Amino acid sequence: MGKLEGKVAVITGGATGIGRAAAKRFIAEGAFVFIFGRRQDALDAAVAELGPNARAVNGSVSDEADLDRLYRAVKAERGALDIVFANAGAGSMLKLGAITAAHIDETFDTNVKGTIFTVQKALPLMGQGGSIILTGSSAGTTGAPGMTAYSASKAAARNLARTWAEDLKGTGIRVNVLSPGATATELAKQALGEEGQKVFASMMPLQRMADPAEQGAAAAFLASSDSSFMTGSEVAVDGGLAQL
Ligand SMILES: NC(=O)c1ccc[n+]([C@@H]2O[C@H](COP(=O)([O-])OP(=O)(O)OC[C@H]3O[C@@H](n4cnc5c(N)ncnc54)[C@H](OP(=O)(O)O)[C@@H]3O)[C@@H](O)[C@H]2O)c1
Repeated sequence: MGKLEGKVAVITGGATGIGRAAAKRFIAEGAFVFIFGRRQDALDAAVAELGPNARAVNGSVSDEADLDRLYRAVKAERGALDIVFANAGAGSMLKLGAITAAHIDETFDTNVKGTIFTVQKALPLMGQGGSIILTGSSAGTTGAPGMTAYSASKAAARNLARTWAEDLKGTGIRVNVLSPGATATELAKQALGEEGQKVFASMMPLQRMADPAEQGAAAAFLASSDSSFMTGSEVAVDGGLAQL
């Protein structure tokens, strides 16, 4: 029997990359998974791979009406929700001196406001034994050039888990952060090319980038009762990058 047998999960950004790897792992462990994202073609391709225990809902985490539609779909088909993996995230680089208000708004609308409403709107469907996982980043701990908005938004995710562990006292719902280091998603591989991937790998104590499945395995751990005494924590799956 899988460690997520009978559980219902929502994964934002679940059509690609880390979210898709987590969806695959959650389903292999027995869960039914709703993936959420803006690109219908990516959602369709993911559901075709993930099979009958996956559903897709199209929308943006920065649009409250879209999130309401997501949770209405979950309620209509499954009635309740056990796991929320608030994983959708994005970021681009601008060095101090070139930062614009639009750049900050875009990053924070998705990574901070989007994460807050993804979780807040899920709560009426959740109860005892529920698990919330936020995707942080090693960038939330380290300093890196040009990463002002993204790194600050991921540092915010770390504090959201701490604050919500307080706010959720007595509900039986846990909340933790999964903080990946450089992970070789399809997008990252395309964007970095062979040389870029070697550069990232060389920065890691483990001397390689993560496979998305390694992030999916950590997400499944945080989603399951294997992590039942953890809340408010950060799990770094970063090859040691932000730990030394
Ligand atoms: N890969 C890495 O090295 C790495 C390292 C540390 C942290 N992370 C974090 O890991 C998470 C997943 O990223 P990834 O690496 O797997 O990259 P990815 O493949 O680009 O995944 C990002 C996902 O988020 C979705 N998304 C973006 N904005 C959204 C919005 N407004 N509403 C709904 N969905 C949205 C995207 O789908 P649509 O565009 O179709 O909406 C996409 O499926 C992100 O939070 C990222 O910051 C990644």
